[in-house]
Amino acid sequence: MLRTPFCDLLGVELPVICAPLGPWDEVRLAAAVCEAGGLGSLGTAVRAVPDLQRQWSQLRRLTDRPFAINHTTRPFTEDTFQATIEERPAVISFHLAVAPDLIARAHDAGILWIQQVMDSRQAVEALDAGADVLVAQGGEAGGHGGDVSTLVLVPQVVDLAGDTPVIAAGGIADGRGLAAALMLGAQGVSMGTRFLASAEMNVSDAWKQRIVAADAVDAVKAANSDRILPPYTRPGSYGVPRTLRTPLVDTLRERPEDIDPDEVVPHLMEAVRKGRGDEYLPFTGQSAALVHEILPAGEIIRAVVREAEMLLTGADGLTASSESG
Ligand SMILES: Cc1cc2nc3c(=O)[nH]c(=O)nc-3n(C[C@H](O)[C@H](O)[C@H](O)COP(=O)(O)O)c2cc1C
Repeated sequence: MLRTPFCDLLGVELPVICAPLGPWDEVRLAAAVCEAGGLGSLGTAVRAVPDLQRQWSQLRRLTDRPFAINHTTRPFTEDTFQATIEERPAVISFHLAVAPDLIARAHDAGILWIQQVMDSRQAVEALDAGADVLVAQGGEAGGHGGDVSTLVLVPQVVDLAGDTPVIAAGGIADGRGLAAALMLGAQGVSMGTRFLASAEMNVSDAWKQRIVAADAVDAVKAANSDRILPPYTRPGSYGVPRTLRTPLVDTLRERPEDIDPDEVVPHLMEAVRKGRGDEYLPFTGQSAALVHEILPAGEIIRAVVREAEMLLTGADGLTASSESG
């Protein structure tokens, strides 16, 4: 069974994280991932505290295994963060900037900290601030991210991280990705897009079908989305979302001045709350090209781990054949 020190630190069986997919509802997905031995996550974006507390209790009814609650800086909301601290999940994960004061608050409450980083500067900041795990997120990723590719970023962060576990994210959707990530020195993977197209994920079937049908080039960076998304509220924040194309995304990219935020933002927020956000900004990574069917999350995890184990076992043969040839 594939097991890394990350699993012991987090108290999970398998080195697989289901990424936070805020603001979409992923309670059933997180539960299925936890029950299958991975680490489930819940996002907090654009939701009020009582709504989130309902999600947290629902997840605790479905599983007694560790899970992560995620925050970002777009925007960072103090009352939500304080509610998270009081909820005491096993882990808080954080994205879009490093916030040493928040890491210290989590640690004071006995909560582990997973920091997602998009470049080496953020990795150094996160290590200095005492993050327990780094997720090195390559630019292939769905949702907000940077530009450095996973293949470059993961070994770069591994070289900086010493004993701190590094998890690879961005562009990983099958066992080949997990095996490659381990070879780069990561201790596991975090997958978002692969789990979006899972049976348990509470997004429209139309979005899942678009992921199954998508090519990598269909998942584009939504340039100029600052016009319609909440502002960053912490120093050092950045990131541009990667998403499937929609009329809104195309207009943002090609004619941003045609977008009137006063008109679009209320529609966007209403659509997200009603589960139709994919009509506007269906955050999705290039790994959509590797997703060919909608499966239950447990099956996804088992298939990814099984394939990685087979590849890693078979890798011995590569050196043997090159020596003999
Ligand atoms: C729909 C969607 C929503 C996301 N929302 C968040 C979020 O709220 N917080 C966060 O830290 N990362 C978020 N991400 C990024 C993921 O954490 C992760 O880095 C990414 O999904 C990995 O790349 P992949 O999509 O190729 O698997 C989101 C990704 C997607 C696809």
